[in-house]
Amino acid sequence: MLSHKPPMGWNSWNTFAQNINEKLIMEMTDVIVNEGYQAAGYEYVIIDDCWSLKERVDGKLVPDPELFPNGMKHLADYIHSKGLKFGMYSCAGFKTCAGYPSSYGHEFEDAKQFAEWGVDYLKYDFCNFPQSGDAKNAYLTMAMALRNSGRDILFAACNWGEKNPSQWMRSHGAHTYRSTGDIFDAPKSYIDIFKSQIDNVEGNGPGCYNDMDMLITGMHGNGHVGLEGCTDAQYLQHFALWAFLGSPLIIGADLRSLDPVNKDVILNPGLISINQDDECRPAFCISKVGENGFCIAKILSGGRIAIGMFNVSETDNVWCGARINVSFDDLGLHSETNLGLKLTDAFTGEELGVFHDGFSFEVGAYGSKVLIGEIVNG
Ligand code: GLA
Repeated sequence: MLSHKPPMGWNSWNTFAQNINEKLIMEMTDVIVNEGYQAAGYEYVIIDDCWSLKERVDGKLVPDPELFPNGMKHLADYIHSKGLKFGMYSCAGFKTCAGYPSSYGHEFEDAKQFAEWGVDYLKYDFCNFPQSGDAKNAYLTMAMALRNSGRDILFAACNWGEKNPSQWMRSHGAHTYRSTGDIFDAPKSYIDIFKSQIDNVEGNGPGCYNDMDMLITGMHGNGHVGLEGCTDAQYLQHFALWAFLGSPLIIGADLRSLDPVNKDVILNPGLISINQDDECRPAFCISKVGENGFCIAKILSGGRIAIGMFNVSETDNVWCGARINVSFDDLGLHSETNLGLKLTDAFTGEELGVFHDGFSFEVGAYGSKVLIGEIVNG
């Protein structure tokens, strides 16, 4: 099944936008393979907007020969030879967001073309869509075109949350759907996206996931979506939130120059295991404190539950003090059951012991505490 779990990969847009070419994509592929990203689960290498000539030739989309001199099949073969998958980009409107030809009215022939090139993933944007057009039908049309293409192609719909896609993208054939406008490399951007989606992930499950946009972790203000950048604590928080909420994990930073701290975040096995858990259950909010304190849970396979405590503010005292208390009652483990939770810090792997009735941790400004609890008797 395509998108059984949230897809993981790398996409060119956040850092490179129009500055893409074959060499860059091959280099990134090599880094993904050689520096542990593939082993951690990252699989799709995705070219975003700006890859084609500005006009169709004989009705077809044509890769810009200056950027991709050997064509897309060659690049796909290279990516496949490394055991990775190849993603590309088009748009439901007349032109892509950056003004390149896109697939409105050409869905079936473009899907066949992508299949011939060996594409495994199609991001499908929403710019320049005709006002009189039927957006839901346009996404359905591309979903059907991909299904008719002769190749399994993951359909990554990207209509930025317009028309409540959580209510119809799954039924209309998307494997992921963008639920918000574009992310930028600043704390306010990821925090606003998180807050807008915390109560909108209930539909996440095998076959279709809410895509909260590509990761900014490790960008440090560089590249196309770079603004003031974030601190390391904020990059960790952003990654942990995306992992916890079941978003696709699509890296946007330049992996050739990623700093070691953020590389460790992006490769963190505990956080990735929450995102990729076998039961694929959505997360839910246990409690909110004011505007900026969130305690979130996610039932995991194997009698386990993940609990995430996030302070998305610059003040230490968001919980009416510096500590957050979590009661077992809130996790459905009432005290008369006499059950315990053996807690492990998901990020560090540190075993914290067996807790009863509740636990409390200090989670200060922009702090994140993510725990994996195993239910134990007594
Ligand atoms: C839109 C999308 C972005 C990116 C650009 C490309 O803004 O939301 O993710 O694909 O288009 O032009």
